[in-house]
Amino acid sequence: MMSSEEVRSSFLEFFREKGHTIVPSAPVIPHGDPTLLFTNAGMNQFKDVFLGTGTRPYTRAADTQKCIRVSGKHNDLEEVGYDTYHHTFFEMLGNWSFGDYYKEEAIAYAWELLVDRWKLPVERLHATVFRTDDEAYQIWLRYLPPERIHRFDEKDNFWEMGDTGPCGPSTEIHFDRTPDLSGAALVNAGTPDVIEIWNLVFIQFNRLPDGTLQPLQKKHVDTGMGLERIVAILQDKWSNYDTDLFQPLIRALEELSGRPYPADPEQLLHPDGVAMRVIADHVRALSFAIADGALPGNEGRGYVLRRILRRAARYARNLGFHTPVIYQLVPVLVDKMGDVFPELREQQSTIERTIRSEEEMFLATLDRGIAHFETVVAQLEKEGKKVIPGEAAFLLYDTFGFPLDLTQLMARERGLSVDTERFEQLMEEQRERSRQARKVEQVEVITPQDTAESEFIGYETLEGESRIVWVEDNKVALAATPFYAEAGGQVADTGTLEIEGERYRVKDVQRVGDLIVHFVDRPVTASAGARVLAKVDARRRQEIRTHHSATHILHEALRRVLGSHVKQAGSLVAPDHLRFDFSHYEKLTPEQLREIEEIINEKIRENIEVYTEVMPLEKAQKIPNVKMFFGDKYGDIVRVVFIDEKFSVELCGGTHVERTPEIGLVKIVEESSVAAGVRRVVAVSSEAAEAYVRQLEDQLKQAAERERDLMEKIRKLEKQLENFKVESMKRQLEEVTTQSQPVNGIRVVTRIFEDATVDQLKQLADFFRTTVKKQGIVLLATIRKDKVQLVCAVTDDLRERLPAGTLVREVARQLGGGGGGQSHMATAGGRDVARLPAVLEAFSALVQSKLETPASS
Ligand code: ALA
Repeated sequence: MMSSEEVRSSFLEFFREKGHTIVPSAPVIPHGDPTLLFTNAGMNQFKDVFLGTGTRPYTRAADTQKCIRVSGKHNDLEEVGYDTYHHTFFEMLGNWSFGDYYKEEAIAYAWELLVDRWKLPVERLHATVFRTDDEAYQIWLRYLPPERIHRFDEKDNFWEMGDTGPCGPSTEIHFDRTPDLSGAALVNAGTPDVIEIWNLVFIQFNRLPDGTLQPLQKKHVDTGMGLERIVAILQDKWSNYDTDLFQPLIRALEELSGRPYPADPEQLLHPDGVAMRVIADHVRALSFAIADGALPGNEGRGYVLRRILRRAARYARNLGFHTPVIYQLVPVLVDKMGDVFPELREQQSTIERTIRSEEEMFLATLDRGIAHFETVVAQLEKEGKKVIPGEAAFLLYDTFGFPLDLTQLMARERGLSVDTERFEQLMEEQRERSRQARKVEQVEVITPQDTAESEFIGYETLEGESRIVWVEDNKVALAATPFYAEAGGQVADTGTLEIEGERYRVKDVQRVGDLIVHFVDRPVTASAGARVLAKVDARRRQEIRTHHSATHILHEALRRVLGSHVKQAGSLVAPDHLRFDFSHYEKLTPEQLREIEEIINEKIRENIEVYTEVMPLEKAQKIPNVKMFFGDKYGDIVRVVFIDEKFSVELCGGTHVERTPEIGLVKIVEESSVAAGVRRVVAVSSEAAEAYVRQLEDQLKQAAERERDLMEKIRKLEKQLENFKVESMKRQLEEVTTQSQPVNGIRVVTRIFEDATVDQLKQLADFFRTTVKKQGIVLLATIRKDKVQLVCAVTDDLRERLPAGTLVREVARQLGGGGGGQSHMATAGGRDVARLPAVLEAFSALVQSKLETPASS
């Protein structure tokens, strides 16, 4: 089974083989065509070629075009969610002939791709032709039997781009999914059982504003095939949402909501299924539109996006979500489509933030709006009426942010309609009121979003006065701003905007098209033209600068230590750290890390001036060792940052220090792997480096303290162990003492304690003396380091007759040693370990013999 990626590339490859130039998709936001809000067909970017006002260096082209159909002539918004094959955003695979081939080849190519290459079953294909197009009909007879070639009128087989513009008769290929091939009657009947897959338009007219058709000089072919539909057919899926294009989004919604997606065709209108399809569809339209520079807003294109978002948010509520959820699908989408459409990946954070803040704003009033809607409905029911008054719809719009179509949708769900005429009337009155108000304020004419621009003055200054050129809720753009918008890995500045006496905190700054948009902490009440004092948080900016310059130096140090294969793969420059991802296949050794750090800090101490130059890209490319990033888009004029032209030269729009010593110290705090062949280094500079060193110091101190505590504990435990040991020896001594037989009324006790100290033996001897009290003699021995140690003690009554010192000396002599001490206790040592048992054995006899001789001897 072909994946969607394979279907897309196999289409392009097929037409490449047929001599077509493969061109990139145009942005989904058309620039320079006021008749269109969104790109709605692959041919949009060739409109000038068809009309003869423009040329291309080729006569055959093919592409996959990002399309949005939510307004104007082609609007599928209402269908989305309720069926399996309509989308607000879709990809249109297309091939074109500009005055080159015509009907015959166009049909032949389509047939070859569908039947020969993709192996669609011929018996399931139907063709439609414009009612008068006999030529196309005859061509089709070569491929299909007459009962599967159908003639239709203007509604189905005459394609027009918009109210004006290129147009012509078309022939369409439809696919019959009925099990019994009974689809002939279902062609163009609006059922998924027989579905249009490819539209081949024979462009030969220009529709003029007065409605007349003006023949074109040349005849062209313009085709369009919905990728999502053809993928569904090739993957044998009943619904586009069951293909790999949508499944990751549906899966994510299942996970987030904890509800299963009802995939069974029988359950097509299950509310959870409708809601998941709506959200999965709408997040694509929103993401692609924002990636190409549009923003939700109150007018025109912006309002269409807001309506799409609010529609999705309302359905998310049906799935039980009470907090923003749509933005959480953006990473899933980027993962699926970011390789084919890199703009998604580049703009991911803008897309997420924009959707999230829109969701938050709408959710704040959604519940109250729904409650208000319910009271209106209850009132109508009581009165037996079926039409929601325009006043109620206007209140829902004005106070709760419900677009009219959302109110209509909710009304329809309850079998009601909306008085849109009255609604429009109220809208017009409101517009008139604000026009009047604006005149009174004498504010300059609002610059339309598409032509407004912001100038960045933040390289030179951190404070500046300017005026608003665009404002929408909590988003403001100024004619000139010192605020750096997140770019090139460098985070956005924060700070304040003072507008008409109010101070707003700037929490984020993003570049959207030519505008630098400040995201502030609350909705801005002023309008375009108002004066603004913009102040960047200077201290934070300074820290960001040190980390950015440190990043450039780190990059070069990495190349010098690891080799020239090191290429930047990603980077983050923040006020408190920097993160640098680069291509390299092994873990960095501690020695390499140290060397890299040394190079960086040496460069910093060299006190180098950091300077920038703006020059043509061509000139920059010629600078030896200049670093530019593959995949980055550069304009014709670029900014180059030099940190010693022999050391680091990089194309970069970021903010940097003036001289390297400002960076202070750089410390690498982490080295890790992010993906196969990509390593990551995290480092800190300036104040963050100081904080890091201080933290290390604290950790060291704490470690030393912990060690002291630990030693103390060990000592205590040792003491306890020692006490245990002595106690246990005392018990043993007690036992032998009671077991010993007194000789002439005197108890003579001997004992070897292996592994005891002399000190312990002395304690035991003391213990003996205090417990036995009278008529007792003890001789204790231990063997340490191949030497015998002895302790002898006698009870006080025997001290004179049998002094311990004398006894122990005699014993020691027998063991080849000597010793002595006091009369009640004495110690000695000997060498003859082997004789010890025998000598102890004989001790009792020794005592006897002493008793028999007079004490004086
Ligand atoms: N431009 C034609 C369409 O959009 C191919 O269907």
